[in-house]
Amino acid sequence: MTPAGPRKVAAYLAALAGLSLTLAACSSGGGGDPAAYPEDDIEVIVPFSAGGPTDTVTRMVAEPMSEELGVQLVVQNVDGAGGTVGAGQAAAADPDGYTVLMHHIGMSTAPALYDDLAYDPVTDFKPVGLVTEVPMTIIARSDFEPETFEDFVTYVQENADTVTMAHAGDGSASNLCGLLLMDALGVQVTAVPYDGTGPAMTELVGGQVDFMCDQTTNTTGQITAGEVKAYAVTTPERIEALPDLPTTAEGGQPDVEVSVWHGLYVPAETPDEVVSTLTDALQVALADQAVIDQMADLGTAPVSEDQATPEAHAALLEEQIATWGEIIGAGQGG
Ligand code: MLT
Repeated sequence: MTPAGPRKVAAYLAALAGLSLTLAACSSGGGGDPAAYPEDDIEVIVPFSAGGPTDTVTRMVAEPMSEELGVQLVVQNVDGAGGTVGAGQAAAADPDGYTVLMHHIGMSTAPALYDDLAYDPVTDFKPVGLVTEVPMTIIARSDFEPETFEDFVTYVQENADTVTMAHAGDGSASNLCGLLLMDALGVQVTAVPYDGTGPAMTELVGGQVDFMCDQTTNTTGQITAGEVKAYAVTTPERIEALPDLPTTAEGGQPDVEVSVWHGLYVPAETPDEVVSTLTDALQVALADQAVIDQMADLGTAPVSEDQATPEAHAALLEEQIATWGEIIGAGQGG
């Protein structure tokens, strides 16, 4: 084979570079032209196990968003380490709009809880918009001895060395609520971590763990079916989906108040035009009556349109990182 001259090598290398750029564009989900976005299915990373509250909220909005965008939003559960594994994978994805992250309050607590976080929640992402803010409920296995929330508080304080509490890893919503509860009760129980409160619920219903604090999107069905014992809801007022459930404040624990806000994110370098397309589709989904009804049945509701925007989402994230940084840093939640 005759050796190629310098001009031929240069042309070959340029062609190769061109080919690799084209392949990169194709491999990143069907094309890099923001004006034509989306041209392929979109992966939505849920950083907790299937069947849990984050997964449930994601699948609720994924369906109408898919319809609006004309492609499938394909949910991928990437669980572990309180949601930081999935968030890290999303941060490192191609910034082409074909990888989206659904995450919650854990996006704001991770910086204070993980020294070696693989991402910065602010600089490694662009927020797409807020989705919903979900109340939490304190629930126990159905044969747990205490009957009322006051009884539960006394029982846990007197039996902290034997009581077990499920959560979904450091920085997860169930972990945060548990920390607030232990702080208020002045005791530490044995924490049992899971990759999500989906599997935690399975073991709670099975009686393998004593109690947990989890979102109504995962607990409402089990509470109304009598599969678990419910003690309180962590919102200032009672909620329509569980009208007989007293608030933590009614039970003498007003400091145990927390709701779990959720939002969608894309990698930081994603073009603004792509973000706008996703934000528009999210707002259509949140106005969808089926989504409104599903959320109402599970104790929550879509955020307002002005909250389902990158600006509102960025402002809340910044405020929450500061707030939880103080709480956790002060040792109250750490
Ligand atoms: C889940 O989806 O499993 C929960 O959001 C985990 C948690 O944050 O407690």
